[in-house]
Amino acid sequence: MTDSILTENRDGVLVVTLNRPQKKNAINNEMWIGIRETITSAAEDDTVACLLLCGAGEHFCSGVDLSSFSDAAPEGEHPFESAARAVADFDKPVVAAAQGVAVGGGATVLFHADIVYVGESLRMRLPFASLGLVPEWASSYMLQANIGAQRAAELFYTAEWIDADKAHNCGIAADVLPDANLFNHAMSKASEIAQWPVNSLREIKRCLRMHHKPAIDAAFAAEQAAMARQAGSPENIEAITAFMEKRKPVFQGS
Ligand code: COA
Repeated sequence: MTDSILTENRDGVLVVTLNRPQKKNAINNEMWIGIRETITSAAEDDTVACLLLCGAGEHFCSGVDLSSFSDAAPEGEHPFESAARAVADFDKPVVAAAQGVAVGGGATVLFHADIVYVGESLRMRLPFASLGLVPEWASSYMLQANIGAQRAAELFYTAEWIDADKAHNCGIAADVLPDANLFNHAMSKASEIAQWPVNSLREIKRCLRMHHKPAIDAAFAAEQAAMARQAGSPENIEAITAFMEKRKPVFQGS
């Protein structure tokens, strides 16, 4: 297991920490594999009743590692795909605690959490349009399901920044906490959940998610096809090059 995904079982709450703070917890291929393995084994482990997802340091996660995203996929499909699936299919409660940066996959993973708590410093963004890409992690469905079609469309099309109050008011987050209290609050809620029988929690999650499952599957398929068309497109290459060169992208026709 990679050091960049830390896990600790605290009385039934599996605390999963994205641990690459020097890159604002950007998720590279090794971490995607670590996430998939962690979630898969947590699903089978009856000593895990609930999962608490958080980021090391001051930030939750800056999404896919843009410097390695196009690296050859070691297993045929990009390891992002199977990690995202594992999270979406996880059959026990997921609580998330997010502060600071939550961008791209660092935002869309939160839409699969059952309960999201955010710190006052939250800076969330769905940057896909600005990267010449499309939403991933079935977020084109999950965000609509969580907050409604118009609000989701506004956030996807504008790629605007979302602060903690907006995340709370629009329904992305259940509550906003001072950063210093965020982890303890989320941990205490996760512990409340973990006191109950794991099989009951599993069944409740299945009942809650069954309505969404066909739409989530369809969103994964549609996004994957659209991503295949857009990844490596001239606008996508320009956006990534601009990020690496720390400059603004220049898109043809805009
Ligand atoms: N992939 C790879 N490296 C990343 C990264 C990512 N997604 N996000 C941040 N980093 C790196 C930066 O390159 C920088 O590295 P360096 O110190 O070696 O130069 C370091 O993490 C700190 O980030 P920095 O950009 O200096 O912080 P900031 O506070 O000015 O900006 C962000 C933070 C998140 C707004 C900015 O880093 C960003 O836009 N990242 C890309 C987010 C993104 O588009 N993710 C993919 C979505 S599909």
